[in-house]
Amino acid sequence: MSLLSERIINMSTSATLAMAAKARELKAEGKDIIGLSLGEPDFNTPDFIKEAAIQAINENYSSYTPVDGYAELKQAVITKFKRDNNLTYTLPQIVVSTGAKQCLYNVAMVMLNSGDEVILPCPYWVSYSDIVKVAEGVPVEVETSIENDFKMTAAQLEAAITPKTKMIWFSSPCNPSGSVYSREELEALAVVLRKHPNIYVVSDEIYEHINFIGGHVSMAEIDGMYDKTITINGVSKAFAMTGWRIGYLGAPEAIARACNKIQGQVTSGANCIAQRAVITALNESPSRVQFMIDEFKVRRDLVLDLLNDVDGFTTNTPEGAFYVFPNISSFFGKTLRGKKINNATDFSLYLLEEALVATVTGEAFGNPNCIRISYAASQDQIIEAIKRIKEAVS
Ligand SMILES: Cc1ncc(COP(=O)(O)O)c(C=O)c1O
Repeated sequence: MSLLSERIINMSTSATLAMAAKARELKAEGKDIIGLSLGEPDFNTPDFIKEAAIQAINENYSSYTPVDGYAELKQAVITKFKRDNNLTYTLPQIVVSTGAKQCLYNVAMVMLNSGDEVILPCPYWVSYSDIVKVAEGVPVEVETSIENDFKMTAAQLEAAITPKTKMIWFSSPCNPSGSVYSREELEALAVVLRKHPNIYVVSDEIYEHINFIGGHVSMAEIDGMYDKTITINGVSKAFAMTGWRIGYLGAPEAIARACNKIQGQVTSGANCIAQRAVITALNESPSRVQFMIDEFKVRRDLVLDLLNDVDGFTTNTPEGAFYVFPNISSFFGKTLRGKKINNATDFSLYLLEEALVATVTGEAFGNPNCIRISYAASQDQIIEAIKRIKEAVS
């Protein structure tokens, strides 16, 4: 009998965290690494949120919270969904968890049976595939193209559906491509989904506010989709609160109750101080964090401008999040500084070793022709990183 379960043996390590660890190792050796691999804002949590946490500590918030979150926080989530997304939820439909990542885990564990298929438009967020697999689901990858801005079309969705399809999972704005689905594009997907009432959608909207075109549209807003959609969101990205670990979902009541039940056997609920701080964050107008979004847009334009000048990189124009996902397959089969580049992982490692720039291989996101570059870094770092990349590949 082996020490570890097949479940964990078959699970891949998060590629973004693995790359960050490797970059840290090289840094410790004294190398001047520029990290463009992590999906985390380089801003501090805004003061008005920090103050709410300090106040909660002073008011002696220290006990277990309700498993699915303080009622006051769930009410703030309801208000946020109504204000920003025109979605009406009630208290039993909301579950607050330890990050959006745990919301996704909860949903997989409570909705998937062995062999159920989950459609994942590629590229998808790095953890989707392993979360689905750990719940014994089967990821079904749907390839998209850079020409279509890495978005799944209605025809592609239709072709991927089988009698075993249980769900589709996607993020908009998308990590890693930055693509944002328009209302028309979501409506086209919904036309297909309305023909298959047993299929549910996980709409991961954690980058909602980091949107450069305005007009975020939630899948649950689309005709016929409210009862079929689990809307996932959180404060990690928009409020620069990755380490506070608070995410939340709005879902049909039976699904939310099941998430509450499993959470009661896993964490007993999210951290109490962080929950108090998030009440303040969500009750404020999103305009309080607009300065970060404005800065991300400036950086997006800067990265696109600089990459445009690097031979062999093809990019789309990301409309949200803080990543670009260039196709670098033109380097495959070539030898750079004595190193053969066979795939995106070789290329990403080459950039780490030769340009001292950390990126992430597209293979981790289900697209083997691209790499992900995060621009959650200062403009100076971005300029220096792309200068080094250009030198390393020319
Ligand atoms: C698309 C997407 N969903 C979910 C998460 C997880 O967010 P959280 O920090 O709330 O667990 C991330 C974080 O990188 C993400 O990019």
